[in-house]
Amino acid sequence: MERITIPPEAVRMISTSSKGDQSKWRVGNKWIKQNSRGYEGQAEVLASLILSCSILNEQDYVTYKPCEILLPDGEISVGCYSYDFRGKLQEVTLERLFEANFTSTDLILNNKALSTAEKFEQLMQKVQLFTGLDVREEVTRLLAFDALILNEDRHTNNILFLFNPIEKSWRLAPIFDNGLSLLSDEKDFPPGKPLTILKRKVKAKPFNSSFSKQLSLYTGPAFIDKIMLLQLLESRDLGFGRAKEVLLSQLNDPSLAHLFFEGSVFND
Ligand SMILES: Nc1ncnc2c1ncn2[C@@H]1O[C@H](COP(=O)(O)OP(=O)(O)O)[C@@H](O)[C@H]1O
Ligand SMILES: [Mg+2]
Repeated sequence: MERITIPPEAVRMISTSSKGDQSKWRVGNKWIKQNSRGYEGQAEVLASLILSCSILNEQDYVTYKPCEILLPDGEISVGCYSYDFRGKLQEVTLERLFEANFTSTDLILNNKALSTAEKFEQLMQKVQLFTGLDVREEVTRLLAFDALILNEDRHTNNILFLFNPIEKSWRLAPIFDNGLSLLSDEKDFPPGKPLTILKRKVKAKPFNSSFSKQLSLYTGPAFIDKIMLLQLLESRDLGFGRAKEVLLSQLNDPSLAHLFFEGSVFND
């Protein structure tokens, strides 16, 4: 596995994760994240591997690679890294977009009178008003992906927009920060416990804590090539551990079957 040395002057960044304790550094054009609660890095790498087997283009998601991290104090730990996706663009999280327009997503997300679909629609209408973008398809597909990987961290700072200050144009950032998924938090989901029981404990975000409620927002076509994914999982043993086991069990879940098309190695 690749080893990345963290120079002493590199600043350890504060996590924006809802569980809040994953250390992160930027070294050159690499963003490095250290495992803290379990196997977040492996889950992150596996999540991007799934997306590499989807209809999405490479620029639609961040590719994460596994790494060993050599800390300035000599300690070695494990994590993952990605290359900078921002360049000269300004990043504005969904939450920050609302703040910049003197409002908050809470007004919609915490409104108990609204159904999941209504919350989604109201939020998307605001996004369209603030940026001109209609990202309904992309966001519902993201929520479907989250249901597949059991992502517990899709809060409103993990949905990101990029603003081009010269062209004054907006676009959705690539899908990123998928590491708190596939039961990677071993503190909350202890190893050795039955997967079926642990899987039921995971809570979704941001529209509803139920993955199936969020999944039902997605009405688009199948977007993941299951055969390609299974072949990749078989051909590469990258030490995914339980992350792979959880994914394989998700692949057998009938409620997710419509996300997959059965491609063939012969027609790619
Ligand atoms: N590959 C990357 N390119 C550009 N910015 C990144 C990249 N990876 C992380 N970041 C920055 O770091 C922030 C936190 O990263 P994230 O992966 O969400 O980690 P966490 O939320 O677990 O701290 C992002 O909102 C973004 O500002
Ligand atoms: Mg994050």
